[in-house]
Amino acid sequence: MPRSTVAIALPAPEFNAVHEHLAEAGYEAFSVQSPAEMAALLSTRNDVGVAILDGENDFDATLEMYGMLHEAGREIPALLLMPPRALGRMGLGGRGYVKDEYFTRPYSPESLRWRVEAMLIRVENVPAAAEPEAGSAPDASEPPADSRIGAPQAEMVGKKLGKIIIVFNPKGGVGKTTISINLGASLQINKKQRVLLVDCDTITGHVAPSLGLEHPRTLSSAWRDAAKTGTEETVGEISAVHSSGLSILVLASSPLHTEILEPKRVANAIIGARENFDWVILDMHPDYGPLNQALFEQADRILIPVTPDVPCIRAAVQFREVAIELDIRNRLSVVINRSNSGVAAADVQRVVGIPDIARVRSAGMLFVRAADEGKSAVERFPTSKVVGDIDLLADRLISGSDSASGRRSGASTEGIRGRFRGLFDRLTAQVS
Ligand SMILES: Nc1ncnc2c1ncn2[C@@H]1O[C@H](COP(=O)(O)OP(=O)(O)OP(=O)(O)O)[C@@H](O)[C@H]1O
Ligand SMILES: [Mg+2]
Repeated sequence: MPRSTVAIALPAPEFNAVHEHLAEAGYEAFSVQSPAEMAALLSTRNDVGVAILDGENDFDATLEMYGMLHEAGREIPALLLMPPRALGRMGLGGRGYVKDEYFTRPYSPESLRWRVEAMLIRVENVPAAAEPEAGSAPDASEPPADSRIGAPQAEMVGKKLGKIIIVFNPKGGVGKTTISINLGASLQINKKQRVLLVDCDTITGHVAPSLGLEHPRTLSSAWRDAAKTGTEETVGEISAVHSSGLSILVLASSPLHTEILEPKRVANAIIGARENFDWVILDMHPDYGPLNQALFEQADRILIPVTPDVPCIRAAVQFREVAIELDIRNRLSVVINRSNSGVAAADVQRVVGIPDIARVRSAGMLFVRAADEGKSAVERFPTSKVVGDIDLLADRLISGSDSASGRRSGASTEGIRGRFRGLFDRLTAQVS
């Protein structure tokens, strides 16, 4: 299948910069300066896979072009440049296609390339209404048949299963909760995915307070209720919904209330949640106890935040060894946190021996300030560079780089790998 082309409605200097990066990735890109030019391009080429539109300049022309992307049986996703003010409000009200994405100025042309690649992988490899083949592994990047935001959940059930992402490092204070919350928020808000964030840290967990949720219902209290009433609720029913749209499930409000949380039962409840969410993100307590082991077994990908200092690197090496024993080594990816400080990122990779899927820079007090207001940094500081880092992590998970060597990789991954060799090679390069 030939590669898709990209229509770009950005001012000439920006077009040139973005075009250069897309050309490097092997994509053809066309500059489109007016609705008439967009109409002409779409009538002569049927391989336009993504359109980059500028919603900051000449909004009427942008709206007209956006309309054309959905005319005549077309359903071309748009990457829309929006003013930062508008970004937080996008996606509300059930409008818009899930496949559309948003970005703001200033942006880096390289980051746009990543996003376009991720969008094209979704467009080209997963037919919108495709049913999973019998026996084949479900793919979280598959868009639901009705991809409009706000479509009834029941319609989604049975059509796809979400992916379970664990965020774990046996060392404390390395950014597990920070990355869990902000990755969840990026996927939910910026990528229009349905996300369940689970606080599995029953000892020092602080997901709910960080998001301003005072006393959310917990899984352990819901199960105690169920034992009395005989009616068991689903994880989706028990979870609280944050103002960002993120669903939040806390396992227990106190370490003394965990006896009902039998590890296999918890793992099964979390597996069940994949029916209603695209991503289930588990923020873990730093230990290797039975609950964590039961959850590791179910993970599609385990992200290990590693800060560039010796104790944390040693902890990651220890986890790699444990993972080999548990036979989950090929699901591990490192996220270098506070990547612009301490030991060089390349040395972290070399010593830990696991490829890094993303680097998150140090952000001073930004995460603390966002948490003070009960928000993720994605909501509170949407244009900050560190949120750009988290968005890239989300893109890389969505684009399927996480499954390149994961246990659910199969024929479809091989197909994608063939077509996007450069992307996969870059993302999965082993560092010896
Ligand atoms: N990239 C970053 N830039 C600035 N501050 C950060 C960054 N990552 C984490 N922090 C801060 O470091 C502290 C510890 O982070 P966090 O609570 O996410 O770690 P953790 O691994 O979940 O800890 P625990 O093991 O106790 O659960 C927090 O105050 C958080 O705001
Ligand atoms: Mg934590």
